[in-house]
Amino acid sequence: MSKIVAQNVSPLRDCVPLYDRRQTVEMSSPTFAQLLNNVGDHVAGGETETPVHRVLTMQPPNSIPFVLSFSNLTYSVTVRRKNIFPAMSRGLTEEAPVTRTKVLLHDISGEARDGELLAVLGASGSGKSTLIDALANRIAKESLKGEMKLNGEKLHTKLLKVISAYVMQDDLLYPMLTVEETLMFSAEFRLPRTLSKSKKKSRVQALIDQLGLRNAAKTIIGDEGHRGVSGGERRRVSIGIDIIHDPIILFLDEPTSGLDSTSAFMVVKVLQRIAQSGSIVIMSIHQPSNRILSLLDRLIFLSHGQTVYSDSPFNLPQFFTDFGHPIPENENRTEFALDLIRELDGTPDGTNNLVEFNRKWKSCSTTSTIYDLSLKEAISASISRGKLVSGATNPTSMVPTFANPIWTEMAVLSKRSFTNSWRMPEIFFVRFSAVMVTGFILSTIFWRLDNSPKGIWERLGFIAFAVSTTYYICAEALPVFIHERYIFMRETAYNAYRRSSYCLSHALVSLPSLIILSLSFAALTFWAVGLDGGASGFLFYFSVVLASIWAGNSFVTFLSSVVPHVMIGYTIVVALLGYFLLFSGFYMNRDRIPSYWIWFHYLSLVKYPYEAVLLNEFKDPTKCFVRGVQLFDNSQLGDLPNSIKEKLLDNISETLNVTITSSTCFTSGADILVQQGITQLNKWICLWVTIAWGFSYRILFYFTLLLGSKNKRR
Ligand SMILES: Nc1ncnc2c1ncn2[C@@H]1O[C@H](COP(=O)(O)OP(=O)(O)OP(=O)(O)O)[C@@H](O)[C@H]1O
Ligand SMILES: [Mg+2]
Repeated sequence: MSKIVAQNVSPLRDCVPLYDRRQTVEMSSPTFAQLLNNVGDHVAGGETETPVHRVLTMQPPNSIPFVLSFSNLTYSVTVRRKNIFPAMSRGLTEEAPVTRTKVLLHDISGEARDGELLAVLGASGSGKSTLIDALANRIAKESLKGEMKLNGEKLHTKLLKVISAYVMQDDLLYPMLTVEETLMFSAEFRLPRTLSKSKKKSRVQALIDQLGLRNAAKTIIGDEGHRGVSGGERRRVSIGIDIIHDPIILFLDEPTSGLDSTSAFMVVKVLQRIAQSGSIVIMSIHQPSNRILSLLDRLIFLSHGQTVYSDSPFNLPQFFTDFGHPIPENENRTEFALDLIRELDGTPDGTNNLVEFNRKWKSCSTTSTIYDLSLKEAISASISRGKLVSGATNPTSMVPTFANPIWTEMAVLSKRSFTNSWRMPEIFFVRFSAVMVTGFILSTIFWRLDNSPKGIWERLGFIAFAVSTTYYICAEALPVFIHERYIFMRETAYNAYRRSSYCLSHALVSLPSLIILSLSFAALTFWAVGLDGGASGFLFYFSVVLASIWAGNSFVTFLSSVVPHVMIGYTIVVALLGYFLLFSGFYMNRDRIPSYWIWFHYLSLVKYPYEAVLLNEFKDPTKCFVRGVQLFDNSQLGDLPNSIKEKLLDNISETLNVTITSSTCFTSGADILVQQGITQLNKWICLWVTIAWGFSYRILFYFTLLLGSKNKRR
């Protein structure tokens, strides 16, 4: 390639029909209904009978083609320019613009048909992911210009959401679930409730065969710490969970990236099979091998957001020959194209000639596709063949937004989360050990406190520390949602379940462990420290510990939904819990807190459980904590012999003219509460307020998920 100029370019050559694979490739496919019928025969005997698994055999189509066409898609973003020397530049130029518009997609048009694989190709940064996002409705409507039509009708967001699926570039899966379980949970979320459990199982088994995952079905997904399935298998599982309901349109962003050539080929082969079972498959791919190229039906080559080629891969040699740069024999066609584009980029005109040449060449070779049915008819026919099993029993009403009612979603979510945590017992064990070790240390330090003046301060110290410990234990909830967030976003983007179900099941699943932790901590410390109140006192103490762990857990869960990173999260949690303790009333009474900080005192999560336990502890009016000569404890006179202290008491009696004996009570429990400024609420209100904080943070968590997980580009 010595000279990069379009020589003898003759786009307006005789318009000989180019190779069209559609004429020769037999479309195929058993639909999901046929599939279920087939498998149903084997499971008719009962749910426990093992279904016979078969790889799907391809049959000639009943031809209900869908044609997705998109025209003039244009998307641009405003980029802020960093102006390091604003004053200087102002002096040099009239007015230096600080923002500029960057076009990411420029006038892209094309067409994808069912039964076919459409691949978007191009160098890194050429706009592949952006185009897939645009087609999959992941760019805000206001920002994207152009039109998308399915069978000639405008595609509405709600419909697209139901009939399509988007497979992300990253594999976001629960590490401790097996392949089969992962697909089964997806089936429970997305397949309609009218479908029996055995049919759902059959669908999963058929999908496992279709994805070529039979040998890995019982293997866990795995993560850094647990050996699991291979990268290629993991990618196929990711695809599987999104196509469980047999969508009509499937979008994938680089499904083969990071895979070796054999795994990549197998993934694309699976995609071809999915397409041939009556779906439109649109994917981006970086640099396909010759083997993979032979599976693709249509290509869109991008360069800087512009189309440089859009046709069948078989027409590539002709295209480049016409452009004046024939592809040498034995050279990979896409590699050649990418190299040529890179070289053109280095010329003054860039790829403009190629873009222009493609436009003329296209207008000559394009044939418009004729589809047999209107969109509504096509979807109805598709549904009656068993497609879109996500709740589509009544084609006239199309499909409901969610496949299952809220309680089913909650049950499935709770089961999945519980199964995943159950297989990682070490996490719970570490938390449990942390609680027990803290409880043990506290018990030994504050062992059997007495009712002396020293005992009062030790009791206060123990209660403040114990309550704040329960909050610190909750910090472990932070990474849970931060890790799960992207799974949640992927699943809710296509209405796998309601956000409310997720919030409720998230709270439900955490409760058993919170109960075990608070019960162990309360039981270990209550009698060891010698807290007051017997059995009823213990029950109240346990309730307060549970309530504060619940409030702490909810608070940390809410934080995890607003902070982007675990480390930032920990910093914020630790700082806030420190402030909560500072303003709780333990270090400083309410009336000593400056008025401009008093609001923080009422927001402090530590204040309410701290006051509740104190009220429980010092509620008994008959109990005395400073009696007779104990008056001199905690002072310089404390070391004097008792006989002198008694004389001092007598002198005080005479001076004040009141009878003070060695059994006179100076400080009752009520006095301590007044000294601590605990006069506003009773212990039950404190308990309920703590519980209410927990619910409030859960509600905030829900709203953050509702507003903050739209998952769309602006
Ligand atoms: N919000 C944005 N602001 C500015 N530029 C952006 C923004 N989003 C994407 N881009 C730019 O748009 C171009 C296309 O990005 P895109 O992710 O679509 O590329 P790609 O072809 O998928 O690349 P890769 O193969 O590396 O995944 C890139 O140059 C990218 O830097
Ligand atoms: Mg990309």
